[in-house]
Amino acid sequence: MNLLFVASECAPFVKTGGLADVVGALPKALAPLGVSVRVMLPAYPALADGAAEGTEVWRRADLQGGPARLLAIDADGIDLLLLEAPHLYDRPGNIYLGADGQDWPDNAERFAALSLAAAEVAMGALEGWQPDIVHAHDWQAGLVPAYLHQADGPTPPCVMTIHNIAFQGLFDASLMTSLGLSSSLYTPDGIEYFGRIGFLKAGLAFAQKITTVSPTYARELMLPDFGMGLDGLLRARQADLTGILNGIDLDIWDPERDAALTAPYSAKRLKAKVENRAQVLKRFGLTAEGDGPLFCVISRLTTQKGLDLLLEVLPALVARGAKLAVLGSGDKALEAGYVAVSHAHPGAVGVIIGYDEPLSHLMQGGSDAILIPSRFEPCGLTQLYGLRYGTVPVVARTGGLADTVIDANEAALSAKCATGVQFAPVTAAALEQAIHRTCDLYAQTTTWSGMIRRAMRHPVGWDVSAQAYHDIYVELLSPGAQRG
Ligand code: ADP
Ligand code: GLC
Repeated sequence: MNLLFVASECAPFVKTGGLADVVGALPKALAPLGVSVRVMLPAYPALADGAAEGTEVWRRADLQGGPARLLAIDADGIDLLLLEAPHLYDRPGNIYLGADGQDWPDNAERFAALSLAAAEVAMGALEGWQPDIVHAHDWQAGLVPAYLHQADGPTPPCVMTIHNIAFQGLFDASLMTSLGLSSSLYTPDGIEYFGRIGFLKAGLAFAQKITTVSPTYARELMLPDFGMGLDGLLRARQADLTGILNGIDLDIWDPERDAALTAPYSAKRLKAKVENRAQVLKRFGLTAEGDGPLFCVISRLTTQKGLDLLLEVLPALVARGAKLAVLGSGDKALEAGYVAVSHAHPGAVGVIIGYDEPLSHLMQGGSDAILIPSRFEPCGLTQLYGLRYGTVPVVARTGGLADTVIDANEAALSAKCATGVQFAPVTAAALEQAIHRTCDLYAQTTTWSGMIRRAMRHPVGWDVSAQAYHDIYVELLSPGAQRG
């Protein structure tokens, strides 16, 4: 079975968050099931070398205002189709934002172009290769199902995956024509979202199947509090909506073989974890004094992640003799807030503003617990990395966090199945209690080491979820399946 993935990010080549990890890992997990995936991505500068070595398989004199080509290359075991269109993608800095921190003004054209090229490939533009199904990820690929819907002739079915409904790709309605969209699609049941064009909405309206990245988030999305204006559409499409948990790449995230760690370790050789801990303390300028746990945060600094709440309760964390190492970037006010608390609590709170992949591995290897107080979290990957590295996740009970962490409540402790700490509601007071509870558990050495070992055994790979995607693909290709 041939699949075309369409996405704006793919690890290890270009990443701003978990979307990249999933798009990079899922194709490898699908391969043993007989699913052969090609991933279509814009050829950003980070992919220029790959593009230069690629084979041209398609070209267009004008794609949204300039020439474009598709270059095929196998990189790190991933079969890439790089969309080279210098006028859209060859620019420095963040793939979505300009130096001023604002969205690139032509993001509509940039990602419509990605979807247009994908739709052409879906309709047979490549010699010798035809996808049976197109799998579009997030708003950047949301127009693919719309372009296929308005096309003449047979088209392959589409799966649309919502990684985060907070990002919808909303643009001015006047762009309909220049984006090549038929005006007949501009209806409340179609592309129109409160007077604008909604790229994600288009995908949700016209894809044959919709998935999101955890069962709890799938249910949450149908509620007004989480659906961000699309809950009605998702309720209407409930029969086609499935929540499938993300997995992680067990080769890249392996405490026994991780080159970013000072000392590799396993559940059987846990002692070596303290060497990584010492290294994290050093990197973050933290003292080794005190007998509390070392918490870490590895995150985009945004309201989604609830990290404003953590700022509020930091004095309580520090008063418990705990320490905090924060690696993140994003919201400027939050960045400034974290830098300020690191100055207020020298030796106890260390903050590095930025994005650093190897350091994120070291922190998973060397911290005692990872804090994820998200207001909403479609899946979340850092708690999965935490489980795998025996770094106890302390999480808000929402979305994928609720589905992957077993709270150390009395029942779970006596049944010996706890792997972390959950809290609800997502308030500063509940977070503070969770931090106290974690410090108490940490002080009970046997209970704590039991949690670490169980966390490390918790299945976080792709096996089950890759099978679930496979089942959806098979269903779509079955003779009775509905077609767009
Ligand atoms: P989201 O996609 O909403 O940002 P996820 O938990 O799904 O959240 O994925 C975040 C990914 O980005 C993880 O792989 C995490 O380790 C990584 N990450 C986030 N912030 C940083 C950072 N500052 N430095 C390195 N890696 C980061
Ligand atoms: C999004 C979500 C995150 C999820 C990731 C990958 O960025 O915020 O929860 O893990 O996509 O699916």
